[in-house]
Amino acid sequence: MTNDEATEAVIRKFKSVKQNPDVYLEGLMYSKPITYWDYIQVDTLLSLQKTRTNLPDEEIFVMYHQVTELYFKMILSELKQIANHPYLRKSFLIPRIARINRYVGALTMTFDIMSEGMEVEQYLKFRNALTPASGFQSAQYRMIEICCTDLDQLVDPRQRKTIKESDTVEKKFQHLYWLAGGEHPKTGEKTLTLSLFEEKYGKVLLQHTNEFADKNLRKKYTALPKSERTDEELIFALRELDRKINIEWPLVHYNTAKKYLITKGETNKATGGSDWTKYLHPMYQKRIFFPELWSKEEIDNWAKQ
Ligand code: HEM
Repeated sequence: MTNDEATEAVIRKFKSVKQNPDVYLEGLMYSKPITYWDYIQVDTLLSLQKTRTNLPDEEIFVMYHQVTELYFKMILSELKQIANHPYLRKSFLIPRIARINRYVGALTMTFDIMSEGMEVEQYLKFRNALTPASGFQSAQYRMIEICCTDLDQLVDPRQRKTIKESDTVEKKFQHLYWLAGGEHPKTGEKTLTLSLFEEKYGKVLLQHTNEFADKNLRKKYTALPKSERTDEELIFALRELDRKINIEWPLVHYNTAKKYLITKGETNKATGGSDWTKYLHPMYQKRIFFPELWSKEEIDNWAKQ
């Protein structure tokens, strides 16, 4: 595009929204050049590591959680693009799923920053200052699941028979798999971790569920024409997604929890107060986003090593 063509295009753009282009062009003469630090918001980003102790490894712990939340945001961005695509076909879907698989793969591969990169002694000290906060309270983690599949798939497998497909979202919400991680192991009462999470995000998650009920990834996949739905590359990508989100990441996370929380042969309580040795294992949770893509045997043996 020549300079004249570019100027003409800009003028047309402002006129199309009934704005005077001269004012905007004059404004450009005075505007400061954009810099890397302003654009990336580096100062703000680097000011977000607010630790509760002076133990240096706590900063690593906080930053790695922040990095993970940013990856979660990238995953959600892909899932929203898929959900809102007006004419979805595998040519758009496969590269987006491949992106999600790369993000989750990167998180799984780098989890040794947590499992190997902190001193157990430091962790055991600073974790007391975090109670009752827990990664269990990550709203984006739940949103990803809700964007990926139908709510029925997130109902606790042990309670699926008590739920009908036609039940309301509110009723299904009372039987979600993650509630088992928010109950006191002995009394069955809700933990403070779960109550605070529900207080802050309960409504938002309900709204999110209603929004994605008809446009989550599973719905979008099953609505494809048969010739696309049976495409081997697409099926492979979706199975990878299920395996990466519902087996591989949960397993590296679970093994890390074991390293820090089982010390000298004793199992310690987690900051969120769950019965984590049972709850965190993907074999127990049995979350499967696309059950139609797995055989009965594969489902029966989900995450069994
Ligand atoms: C030393 C590192 C870590 C340990 C020991 C650990 C431990 C735990 C435990 C025991 C739980 C169960 C809930 C509870 O009782 O607190 C949990 C849940 C969770 N944590 Fe971590 N965690 C670690 C790092 C991370 C990181 C880096 C993330 C990234 C955001 C994360 C995200 C989550 C999520 C999403 C859950 C809920 C999982 C589910 O409901 O299936 N955790 N964690």
